[in-house]
Amino acid sequence: MDKFFSQKKTPIWFMRQAGRYLPEYKKIRSTEKTFLNLCFNSSKAAKISLQPLERFDIDFIILFSDILVVPHALGQFVDFKEKVGPILEPINSKFDLNYSKLTNNLRTLSPVSKTIKIIKKKNKEKDLIGFCGGPFTVLTYMIEGGISTKHEKIKLKLIKEKKELLEIIEILIEFSSMYLIEQIRSGADIVKIFESWAGLLDDDLYFDFIIKPNMKILENIKNAFPNIPVACFPRNSGSQIFTFIENVACDIISLDEKFPEQLLEIAKKKKIILQGNLNPQLLVQGGKKMEETIKKILLKFKDNKHIFNLSHGILPHTPIVNVKNTIELIRDFNET
Ligand code: CP3
Repeated sequence: MDKFFSQKKTPIWFMRQAGRYLPEYKKIRSTEKTFLNLCFNSSKAAKISLQPLERFDIDFIILFSDILVVPHALGQFVDFKEKVGPILEPINSKFDLNYSKLTNNLRTLSPVSKTIKIIKKKNKEKDLIGFCGGPFTVLTYMIEGGISTKHEKIKLKLIKEKKELLEIIEILIEFSSMYLIEQIRSGADIVKIFESWAGLLDDDLYFDFIIKPNMKILENIKNAFPNIPVACFPRNSGSQIFTFIENVACDIISLDEKFPEQLLEIAKKKKIILQGNLNPQLLVQGGKKMEETIKKILLKFKDNKHIFNLSHGILPHTPIVNVKNTIELIRDFNET
């Protein structure tokens, strides 16, 4: 892990660094009818993964794909509609999925392995981040059938059908572990688990639906590849993050804006790398406010092992120049 910090400069990457704020992304996007087709076109997906490196002095490549390829591979209907986002045919129980032989389901995702191999062939210097969604986050989309602000369906099911939901979570744990291991075999240097909806749950449910599943995936990965760094992103966990890192042996924690300050000290003791945490809205706004916040972040994390990133994904209307300025500011800061 120390290799990330060998040059005395803060390593940098951005969540959603490949995406709609880049005209070159939109150009390739327009050549495929559906977003999933784009994800499964390995040469295009590899190209998109590498696009941000042509513009920016960043330190990591993230695989271009999506967390919702997993429900697709499990037999659920998944589509992405422009200006709407993902649409899924909602499921009610594990019996709505096709999971009798997960190695067969994994074959559906073989284009992702191919994408990784192409990226590694084209760029041997930078570390490549593979990823999947956290089981609970993927489950919310599977149950809600797409983006939801209130999450009413899943919240009701958590009360009425907890056992049935945990059965789906078990499948997601097993399949996501296989999928990440396959990504590592194909060349991913780091893997990240995006648990974007961790903040929805109170303590009991948090343990069963966030901590246990992330813990199990981590164990499975470390059993197969003890030296591959694993990043976790239990977004909006608040003080539950302490129980999270007590139980989930991750190497990197990706942070939202509201994490508790004591985490800085604990992470240092436990040798956990902290990643974050600029508000993506500030990257849209730019100017003084953005610059001041970046400096504050760099000062806040100066005694920790810190990878600079956002608190959530880059927004589509982000000016490219603000991304450039952010990187320059960080590099300058490191030199003073
Ligand atoms: O650059 C990268 O970070 C790699 C690619 C990546 C995408 N999605 C591409 C994408 C990654 C790591 C993701 C993760 C992802 N996908 C998450 C977890 C992180 C988070 O944002 O909380 C989630 C919840 C999803 C599900 C998803 N995919 C949603 C809700 C949406 C619609 C909202 C949106 O931002 O458009 C997507 C679509 C999506 N995933 C796009 C991209 C580039 C835009 C689709 C398009 O270009 O047509």
